[in-house]
Amino acid sequence: HHRNDLSGETVLITAGGTREALDPVRFLGNRSSGKMGYALAEAAVRRGARVILVSAPTALRPPAGVELVPVITTEEMRREVLNRTDQASIVIKAAAVADYRPKQQAEQKMKRVGPLSLELEPTEDILAEVVSHRHPGQLIIGFAAETENAVAHGRDKLLRKGADAIVLNDVSREGIGFDSDRNAVTFLTPHRALDLPEMAKRDIADRILEEVLGLRRPQQVV
Ligand code: PMT
Repeated sequence: HHRNDLSGETVLITAGGTREALDPVRFLGNRSSGKMGYALAEAAVRRGARVILVSAPTALRPPAGVELVPVITTEEMRREVLNRTDQASIVIKAAAVADYRPKQQAEQKMKRVGPLSLELEPTEDILAEVVSHRHPGQLIIGFAAETENAVAHGRDKLLRKGADAIVLNDVSREGIGFDSDRNAVTFLTPHRALDLPEMAKRDIADRILEEVLGLRRPQQVV
């Protein structure tokens, strides 16, 4: 029933968890499976969009019809995303991006020699950079994974990062969020907070795309 409502759109989606190397065999990572981003990519293709999927490592098979751009680190994701945002009419950042990376990378496998402290440095905020290069009419949607005060933190991220909407994931809830096949989210815009109840990620993906398209319609004043 959504057939082709995204035709003519180029949707750039990020997915998966970026990895930051400590040494040739170890990395700092996170629990993102990529399922949410891949579900969005599949749903967007099905609705007629051209889809560019910039993906950190996952165990998933890319949906048929997407243009897959594999990356590993936050810096690679940043480069590949910024190289392509000009082409995108909609950007959806479902990836779980590392906020910190080791300041130094060992060239050889590190040995175990007593206590070890790691020095970390912040990564670039890709979402904020995409917003700062926004072109007219481009929609930019972030995700936010929160473990406490989800709506307050989500709202703060929405305003601070300047995205059109934030898809808020309360990842403290069991059975949804990271790695699950199901999710429940709050679609947050400056004007409203819409709760999408627990359902399959593929269905949540379609609901999110409907809300994203709704941003193109004039906002109702309440
Ligand atoms: O992959 P799954 O297993 O299916 O799980 C889905 C998910 C929980 C990973 C996903 O739905 C989700 O919530 N993704 C966002 C996770 C995250 O990194 O949230 P954040 O609150 O740390 O970041 C907020 C936003 O800024 C995100 O859109 C993120 O892509 C972006 N960001 C963050 C840091 C950074 N350096 N650059 C960014 O662009």
